[in-house]
Amino acid sequence: MVDVETFIPEAKAEIAEAIGDDNAVIALSGGVDSSTAAALAYDAIGDQLTPVYVDTGLMRKGETEQIRETFEYMDSLRIVDATDRFLDELEGVTDPEEKRHAIGEQFIREFETVAREVEAEYLVQGTIYPDRIESEGTIKSHHNVGGLPDVVDFDGIVEPMRDLYKDEVREVARELNLEEIISERMPFPGPGLAVRIIGEVTAEKLDVAREANHVVEEELEEYEPWQALAAVIGKATGVKGDNRVHGWVVAVRSVESRDGMTARAQEIDWETLQRIQSRITGENDTVSRVVYDVTHKPPATIEYE
Ligand code: XMP
Repeated sequence: MVDVETFIPEAKAEIAEAIGDDNAVIALSGGVDSSTAAALAYDAIGDQLTPVYVDTGLMRKGETEQIRETFEYMDSLRIVDATDRFLDELEGVTDPEEKRHAIGEQFIREFETVAREVEAEYLVQGTIYPDRIESEGTIKSHHNVGGLPDVVDFDGIVEPMRDLYKDEVREVARELNLEEIISERMPFPGPGLAVRIIGEVTAEKLDVAREANHVVEEELEEYEPWQALAAVIGKATGVKGDNRVHGWVVAVRSVESRDGMTARAQEIDWETLQRIQSRITGENDTVSRVVYDVTHKPPATIEYE
């Protein structure tokens, strides 16, 4: 386990030395990694750092407001509302990797615009050790690792947490007094709810996924899962009132893991599962069925796409 009391000053010194009098940008996602990296870098270089949050419309419920609150102390914070542009790019895209690619490309365009405006020479990233391992393999393309530097011509990339595991990042976040909602937050994929929707991403499916993920996060908090999620996986017949309906099927998944490379499906008690089911179907008229995923990783991945 990393010794946070020595890690933090060393990381700040490394950032300050790498960037000097130049400017840097960092992409915020609302997750613990980028938030911690941003907090470290802001402490190190102040407003020479522009933290950029791109609202892709694929984020968790309340994410944008949360970011605004948490980072409002950083005067240089930029929030870009790109919701419509992402939905346009995703229209008709059904293949998982094409989806990731479309999101990654649009993200780069949005990020690049700000990086150019603030004349950033450096990119700070919250990359952690498992990200580097997974992106070396061919399991899935992770758009937030490795994609940005090729496009924007930075003088350098600073990755102060490159050797840390997730639990170590959480230690650092706690030591930096980041709010609990961030330090204890479950990992959330860069492409957001798009990988929790099988097939085309539409505004309707996004609404279902966003609300269902919120319910799952709330209801499963006491189980302290490494990651818990809901995915819109298709349509099935159901009955609402006196009518047969063809509604959305929502899959609920909750896993234990250390680093996301392998995972075990969690055993959840029946009452909790029923409460989740009734909230998801009750809060959204178009959902006809909720199922619980009992598959470990491998053979399944954590996300659905
Ligand atoms: P899988 O689904 O591959 O997920 O078992 C392992 C971990 O990685 C996250 N994940 C992603 N993170 N971009 C990301 O930043 C992605 O494209 C992506 N796909 C999966 C997933 O949420 C889990 O924590």
